[in-house]
Amino acid sequence: MQSYVPGFIYLHSILRYFILLFALIVVVQSLIGMLGKKKFKTGNKQSALVLLIFCDLQLLLGLALYFLTGTINKFSDGDVMKDPVKRFWAVEHGVSMLIAIILVHIGYSFTKKLMDDDRKFKRIFWCVFIALILIVAMIPWQWKSEGIARPNIPAMHAQS
Ligand code: HEM
Repeated sequence: MQSYVPGFIYLHSILRYFILLFALIVVVQSLIGMLGKKKFKTGNKQSALVLLIFCDLQLLLGLALYFLTGTINKFSDGDVMKDPVKRFWAVEHGVSMLIAIILVHIGYSFTKKLMDDDRKFKRIFWCVFIALILIVAMIPWQWKSEGIARPNIPAMHAQS
């Protein structure tokens, strides 16, 4: 394995917390905007943009890891869909996260649309809320089953 792969894994692992934080900020801001009939402000757009940038970075790192860690080779095994661990890494993690990132993009696109603020908040809320649920569900948390679980706080250079 190339020497920079542990660094990529470390970054990919840490970035999850920034994504979770900003997804939560966007969800709460949209909820407050929706329920309080607030005006859509620059701050609302900025937090959605920061989330989008973190997600795109995570996608790039994820795609790189997909090839560099040999995850893609799991497809060549005939039993990939029967084995829950292989299925998680070869299909479920990447595909679900990709769907979540697409939802974040769709949510952000509403920040630029000409529509009333109430509808804007509502649409952003639902896109990012669903994305957040998908992301939380598909993170390989420490308490998940063996083979899937990864450390919640990664150690630099440690390869699990
Ligand atoms: C919001 C999006 C994502 C989040 C929050 C996320 C989170 C994580 C976390 C926490 C790990 C464990 C890192 C560790 O070992 O400490 C991981 C591993 C990994 N992720 Fe993601 N990920 C995301 C998107 C993606 C995408 C889109 C892909 C691929 C297309 C991907 C591919 C991988 C791969 C290949 C691994 C390493 C698997 C291994 O160790 O064998 N991830 N991801």
